Amino acid sequence: MSLIPIRWLTQSYNATGSDEDALPRLALLDQRLLPGETREIELRDADGVARAITDMVVRGAPAIGIAAAYGVALEAVRAAHEGGAWGARLEAACEVLAASRPTAVNLFWALDRMRTVIAAHATRELAPHEALLREAVRIHEQDLEDNLRMAEFGAQVIAASLSTDTPHCEVMTHCNTGALATGGHGTALGVIRTAYAQGLISRVHVNETRPWWQGARLTAWELVQEKIPARLAVEGAASLIMQSRDGDGDVRWLIVGADRIAANGDTANKIGTFSLAVQARAHGVKVMVVAPLATFDASLDSGAAIPIETRDADELRQAGNRRIAPDEIEVFNPVFDVTPHEYIDAIVTEHGVVESPDSDSVGALLGRAQRR
Ligand code: MRU
Repeated sequence: MSLIPIRWLTQSYNATGSDEDALPRLALLDQRLLPGETREIELRDADGVARAITDMVVRGAPAIGIAAAYGVALEAVRAAHEGGAWGARLEAACEVLAASRPTAVNLFWALDRMRTVIAAHATRELAPHEALLREAVRIHEQDLEDNLRMAEFGAQVIAASLSTDTPHCEVMTHCNTGALATGGHGTALGVIRTAYAQGLISRVHVNETRPWWQGARLTAWELVQEKIPARLAVEGAASLIMQSRDGDGDVRWLIVGADRIAANGDTANKIGTFSLAVQARAHGVKVMVVAPLATFDASLDSGAAIPIETRDADELRQAGNRRIAPDEIEVFNPVFDVTPHEYIDAIVTEHGVVESPDSDSVGALLGRAQRR
């Protein structure tokens, strides 16, 4: 079964000469159907990719950014194929993609990179589809490389927290931050994969992640396929699990991803992350956030300004085809929350680890990364 969420499908084509059916398409593994069904959908333009992001065919901060970059490349291929003025068309494509989801900053970061390529080719007669595809592929490949670096750094942090008496530990994770959410390997789940391979983790506690079940449907699926010992529970069981020190729990780390990290380290991630971090603090469990620099938004001093997406009420009123709440009930369905930096023990990036993050330490990391 494929764990590749995003594939660029190219036959041999010539943007100006091929017929329309031969133009490239973007294949997205439809994450709404997992784990029951593995089916890809194929998209031909930026509108289609934007709809797929809004509808959660593809989700997870890095994967959304990668898909959006390919969406711009798809639109450029079509613009070159159809000929004529292309600048306004590609800007409109960037705008529709930027409106697809509000919280994960990786989306806007990837579109900024695509806009830079567009600007560098502004005087060309044909839309710069080859340069845009190259940039999308670079964003995709860079994400995988970053994940592998973060996985090593994160595993080192876990190793340093263990002792000869306790050579391995159990960890808890929330939402899905694995290969499905990224260019491959994963952020938080990437650290877990690598630390497990190094013998540092004995079991993973997976929260089901209401209301969209990313934990139950996606993380559990990835872990089962990799044969990593894992146990699924409702978020409400988190304190009970963290409290246990009898070998039926013994969780030492809560390891999560991020959708946007402000300049002071405040971190937006899947709804429920903040309450898990509070519970972790109460039970002496450490909190690790794993995210590439593309997830940082240095323009925001704190997490208070991070836009929080709210989604359709039916995600709560309905379970599959069954109505589980009255139609008349008012529903609040925010899908992210912000964990204040004081609750985070370490932020792991591809440029290194920030312990006890705050404005100074996050600023120093971003400054160091810029100078490289
Ligand atoms: O609503 P989703 O499924 O896109 O939310 C995903 C998360 O919150 C992840 O934890 C985050 O994007 C990091 S993915 C590497």
